[in-house]
Amino acid sequence: MVTTQQIEEALRRVVDPELGTDIVELGMVKSIDVASGVVRIVIALTIAACPMRDQIESDVVRKVRAMPGVDDVVVEVGAMNPEERSALMARARRHARENAEPTRVNPLTRVIAVSSGKGGVGKSTVSVNLAVAIAEEGHAVGLLDADIWGFSIPRMLGASELQLVADEDRRIQPADAQGIRLVSTGLIVEDEDTALMWRGLMLSKALEQFLRDVAWPQDLDYLILDMPPGTGDIQMALSRLLPQAELVVVTTPQKAAQKVAARVADMARRSYMPVIGVVENMSGFTTEDGRHYALFGSGGGTDLADDLGVPLLGEIPLDPHVVTGGDDGTPVVRSHPDSPAASALRAAAKRLTGLVPPAQDETCTSRIAVLADQLERLGTGR
Ligand SMILES: Nc1ncnc2c1ncn2[C@@H]1O[C@H](COP(=O)(O)OP(=O)(O)OP(=O)(O)O)[C@@H](O)[C@H]1O
Ligand SMILES: [Mg+2]
Repeated sequence: MVTTQQIEEALRRVVDPELGTDIVELGMVKSIDVASGVVRIVIALTIAACPMRDQIESDVVRKVRAMPGVDDVVVEVGAMNPEERSALMARARRHARENAEPTRVNPLTRVIAVSSGKGGVGKSTVSVNLAVAIAEEGHAVGLLDADIWGFSIPRMLGASELQLVADEDRRIQPADAQGIRLVSTGLIVEDEDTALMWRGLMLSKALEQFLRDVAWPQDLDYLILDMPPGTGDIQMALSRLLPQAELVVVTTPQKAAQKVAARVADMARRSYMPVIGVVENMSGFTTEDGRHYALFGSGGGTDLADDLGVPLLGEIPLDPHVVTGGDDGTPVVRSHPDSPAASALRAAAKRLTGLVPPAQDETCTSRIAVLADQLERLGTGR
């Protein structure tokens, strides 16, 4: 007679191809019943319309049917509720963290990816200004331009003339742009040594190289990533390489953001990156005599934040100084610190650092991580 424990063991060999973890660990196996050779298994998928459904189902049937004492296998497939889904995400994140490939980013550095469901909403503008504002709060900040081919950060920080150089260990040193440690494909030159290092650089590999081969300072409090538009490979690569990454989502006030919200939520789920909050950008325009025009509608940021169940970090008004600041290489928080856009960006940065304070300011978890690391070093004599 086959037991439910034996079946559970067999199911540990069924891996959710998307999440890379077995379905028992992920909590997807709801129940197992055995009665006179017939095994009934109830599986809860993350969403009912999961594209991996057939594959998981047939894997389960094959693995269990192969067991001695099993005559038939009946699989019932349902969907998880939101609580089960977030528990699954937590487990998958833990798994990803334990299996993360090594990068040179200190695990205690807060990694914040500035993302959006669509292009042109101001991700780069928000990234640069958040980076400067957070640095002005006294934190050590790195900025990684993850928009590999569409890079715009060097221009926005007036750093287009800077070049990334490699040290004798062939590790790339981030450039210092207005106190921000910056890495961008815009700073790679055709100088022979460097060109060699970057030859064959492919989109999917570029982020990996930026994280592995760049000598990111170990004392960085924050690493901000300006993400390329869309919700694709780069996001998945980021969550694989830096499981501690979290998202800030930029949107416009336009109400018809439902589809965008769904896309962002789906991407966050697939890459296990929690969303910290939403920044609404281009939130109306106020004339010098105080008249307000909601040029791109209103309420989109609040709606998206509500949909995602996260706070709205700020509403950044349209402001011509944002554009000139970006073009002149001095972000608006520095070029026009008293402008409404700069104030809103600084307030958003403050809220953000309040929600995700630098790791060493936290009590238990980070200290335990540091202690564990020290103990491990002692133990292995490194
Ligand atoms: N609050 C604002 N007021 C005025 N102009 C703005 C504001 N935010 C962004 N812009 C302008 O909008 C344009 C697009 O912004 P940005 O490049 O930051 O968007 P993006 O989301 O990074 O775009 P992409 O998806 O192409 O990477 C830029 O010219 C920028 O100067
Ligand atoms: Mg951009």
